[in-house]
Amino acid sequence: MSFEDEVRARIDSNASDLELRGAADRFMHVSLRKKYSYNFSWLGRPIIQYPQDIVVMQEIIWRTQPDLIIETGIAHGGSLIFSASMLELNALCGGPARAQVLGIDIDIRAHNRTAIEAHPLAKRIKMIQGSSVAPDVVQLVRRTASQSGSVLVCLDSNHTHDHVLAELEAYAPLTSVNNYCVVFDTIVDNLPADFLTDRPWGPKNNPRSAVRQYLESHPEFEIDKRVEDQLLITVAPGGYLKRVG
Ligand SMILES: C[S@@+](CC[C@H](N)C(=O)[O-])C[C@H]1O[C@@H](n2cnc3c(N)ncnc32)[C@H](O)[C@@H]1O
Repeated sequence: MSFEDEVRARIDSNASDLELRGAADRFMHVSLRKKYSYNFSWLGRPIIQYPQDIVVMQEIIWRTQPDLIIETGIAHGGSLIFSASMLELNALCGGPARAQVLGIDIDIRAHNRTAIEAHPLAKRIKMIQGSSVAPDVVQLVRRTASQSGSVLVCLDSNHTHDHVLAELEAYAPLTSVNNYCVVFDTIVDNLPADFLTDRPWGPKNNPRSAVRQYLESHPEFEIDKRVEDQLLITVAPGGYLKRVG
């Protein structure tokens, strides 16, 4: 058996291992309560992600070699710097030389903007301030995407059902075939109603419920089950959407 076949078989077996799944689910539950995702940075900027999701995004960006990564939700800029660093590595290794990340946030704090613009990887980053679902913002992003080759989309802004559904309608169609539209924080769907009392999202009103509705009329996307089977620990179960048509 090849190494790749062994990995595949182990991922399949782990995914149906109730003890492992239970341990991973418990870790997610407890660590989300402890705000574990806020503990990390990427090349100096805070990134609000789990390390497991960051590693799998590295695999996706390396495999798909995008020319453009569209990200909603910038916060401190860690995920923008991460994507820019991957595009820089891709370029160094013969991938798209001019690949860019386009970040959108309704509120880019001055200190975050200054730090992102001063970063050595800033040359690969463009930012738009505004709501990701505002028509002028969507139009600007669409125009950029229309001038790009392969496009990868990451949605990580406001996590209510209506907002994520509107983001999916606006940005998922920009995803290239064989690339991904990654919807973060679908994990909210698995949390009890009293978990996030300080947020408008919760059970039945979250990124996962939006993905479910979107997929009902968009067969060109499929949930890449392999990614979540591989990860087990992820904030995006059912959120790694692959464009297959
Ligand atoms: C979870 S943080 C993003 C984290 C970032 N992607 C990272 O990995 O470090 C969510 C961000 O979404 C932004 N946001 C909230 N509502 C938004 C909207 N309607 N349009 C665009 N961004 C929004 C917030 O200002 C916040 O910075």
